[in-house]
Amino acid sequence: MTHQIEAEAPAAQRNAMAPLIAAHEVRKSYQVDRGQVEILHGVSLSVHEQEMVAVMGPSGSGKSTLLYCLAGLEAPTQGTIALAGMPLDRLSRADLAKMRRSQVGFVFQSYNLIPTLTATENVALPYTLDKVVPPRELVASTMATVGLTERADARPPSMSGGEQQRVALARVLAQRPEVIFADEPTGALDTRTGELVLAELVRIAHTPGRCVLVVTHDPKVAASCDRILFMRDGLLVRELRESSVETVASTLAGLSSQEA
Ligand SMILES: Nc1ncnc2c1ncn2[C@@H]1O[C@H](COP(=O)(O)OP(=O)(O)O)[C@@H](O)[C@H]1O
Ligand SMILES: [Mg+2]
Repeated sequence: MTHQIEAEAPAAQRNAMAPLIAAHEVRKSYQVDRGQVEILHGVSLSVHEQEMVAVMGPSGSGKSTLLYCLAGLEAPTQGTIALAGMPLDRLSRADLAKMRRSQVGFVFQSYNLIPTLTATENVALPYTLDKVVPPRELVASTMATVGLTERADARPPSMSGGEQQRVALARVLAQRPEVIFADEPTGALDTRTGELVLAELVRIAHTPGRCVLVVTHDPKVAASCDRILFMRDGLLVRELRESSVETVASTLAGLSSQEA
């Protein structure tokens, strides 16, 4: 490692050249009535800065489980995961929580919006929780980016599913996390808003020091990604690079038909 890179990373023992997301042989089992059932059977992947990567696969293939493990929301049963060069299993509970708040963003459907707070207050919430005064202009411009300016004072119970999802997205964007995980981020959105959100995710993914990993059923979303990983029965089985909507759709159809 060069002297310069060390100088740029003073605080933690992080490796600036490491992938932002690195998973090695990740297995995940859940306890069910009859014992353990393994959902992920050894998944390895890496996502580098300025990359946007899609995960696709039939329903039940383990995409969400993989995302939850990569994001540190679930602990893998075996294998290792590192975010921004830091192995998650070596972080204390408190450090893991801190990392999730500051360096990692989640765009999951209806993810933890507070019903009694306005849209703006929800977007500013991570700052408030960290006892930092929310940057008003950044919060306002982020609300504008996702088309929520006119709904700034609305509260989640009076908002549509798509609007709530945009609040959750704006909250993530206003944090400027290094790593963004998104599970079907455009699934509940109308076409125009979906395109807006997708464009914003692509823009962020291609910013130095950042990346996005997105689970999607939508070949159009996947075709906007730099790489597409295909999952089947708890394993990654194929990878495409910079692909057309048609190629993505036919690859996905091929995977699903093999299932039967
Ligand atoms: N907490 C859990 N306990 C037991 N089984 C689970 C749990 N979460 C997910 N599963 C099972 O894991 C499999 C993969 O689920 P999931 O990761 O949600 O797939 P996908 O997102 O690809 O549709 C499914 O068969 C699901 O029933
Ligand atoms: Mg899922």
